[in-house]
Amino acid sequence: MKRSLLYLTIITAIICCACTNRKPKYVIGVSQCSEDIWRDWQNSEMMLESTLHDGVELRFTTARDNSKRQIQQIDSLVESGIQLLIVAPNQLASVTPAINRAYDKGIPVIVFERKTDSPKYTAFVSADNYEIGHIMGNYVAMRLQGKGRVMEILGLKGSSPSEERHKGFTDALKDTDIEIVATLQSDWTEEKGYEAVRNYTGNLEDIDVVFAHNDRSALGARRAFITAHIDKLPLFCGIDGLPGKDGGIQMVRNGVLDASYIYPTRGDQLLQLALDILDGKPFQKETMLTSAIVTSENANVLMLESDEVMRQSQRMTRLKNKADEYIQQLGTQKSISILAVILIFLLLIMIVGIYYYFLQHARISDERNKMEREKLDFYTQVSHELRTPLTLIQAPLEELTETEEGKNASPETKDLYNILRRNTNQLIELINKMLDVQ
Ligand code: FRU
Repeated sequence: MKRSLLYLTIITAIICCACTNRKPKYVIGVSQCSEDIWRDWQNSEMMLESTLHDGVELRFTTARDNSKRQIQQIDSLVESGIQLLIVAPNQLASVTPAINRAYDKGIPVIVFERKTDSPKYTAFVSADNYEIGHIMGNYVAMRLQGKGRVMEILGLKGSSPSEERHKGFTDALKDTDIEIVATLQSDWTEEKGYEAVRNYTGNLEDIDVVFAHNDRSALGARRAFITAHIDKLPLFCGIDGLPGKDGGIQMVRNGVLDASYIYPTRGDQLLQLALDILDGKPFQKETMLTSAIVTSENANVLMLESDEVMRQSQRMTRLKNKADEYIQQLGTQKSISILAVILIFLLLIMIVGIYYYFLQHARISDERNKMEREKLDFYTQVSHELRTPLTLIQAPLEELTETEEGKNASPETKDLYNILRRNTNQLIELINKMLDVQ
């Protein structure tokens, strides 16, 4: 019984573990270079997409704009057993060795949004940053009607989007009378954008447009202009055009920024590509994402659209949570059902065991009774066998004592007769008693 209980506990534990800890089919590592709303938005898109596929686990890391940290994080992701790596390299060159190591180990690598300087990757997904810089340059030229003074705030040094946006922007302004009076180094953060402008020694008053490589830097730069009490604020342009509260689209609509460019996150598309690669399906090696500029003219429509997208994605998240809840309940119910089946099975085993125990017991006592009966029969038979010769002794003895010789026998002989008679009678009486009992 104790052993059955032990088995029951072990089986139940195994079943419960099996029901709750299903091993994921694919483990995908996501190495983000930065931590900001653009990345958060992209990560949540990937998460949401992963819920639509069975058995996908995502492992996120963020290097917080530090290449050394990103190298370590990529190495530990590989070490942890990921089957595919999605990476946005912080800088063009410094993170490349870690990406190469992962690729050389046979792990497919999707490089997205920022480039490496090595051909060792499985797929590359990005918007065309040169093109974005060029479009922003053309927009600025249009806003200034071909003449004016511009300040450019670069992204992180050594990162491909910054280099390409800069090139595209300057190329677009080449044949105009627009002068780029300052090219300040930043690192994508709002704080660095602010500091870069604060440390600028030139005249802030005669800047017409500030083009920052992303919205956050543009916002930092704007804050610095306001802090410096510049009478007429220049126009601020950025890139990212995120949806939602305080996103680039809203900032353009509210007039905080003059323009932005929607830098596509497309986390869902990235994850789909990752799954196609893992499933061995055909995929495109280089994907160029297209997008659009946000200006005061379309900000309202884009805002409405992005709000709707957000509303739908929140709805999907709620639906997903509900589905998770049901799946969990289903899992618990499954465990309980399995447990009940095991219990019934054990109960049946116990009932059969008890039945066999009693059957065996009855068989043994039957055999014992039979043996007893045989023993009795034997004793009865022996008693009968003993009584016959004794009666055959008793009768002649009686006859002998009744003869003349017997009656006239010496007292010693009579005593002997008596002893013989008494003992014979005693024996016969005893045997009779035994036979009565039997
Ligand atoms: C987000 C971000 C964006 C920028 C992009 C450049 O981490 O800094 O603001 O457009 O990366 O790679």
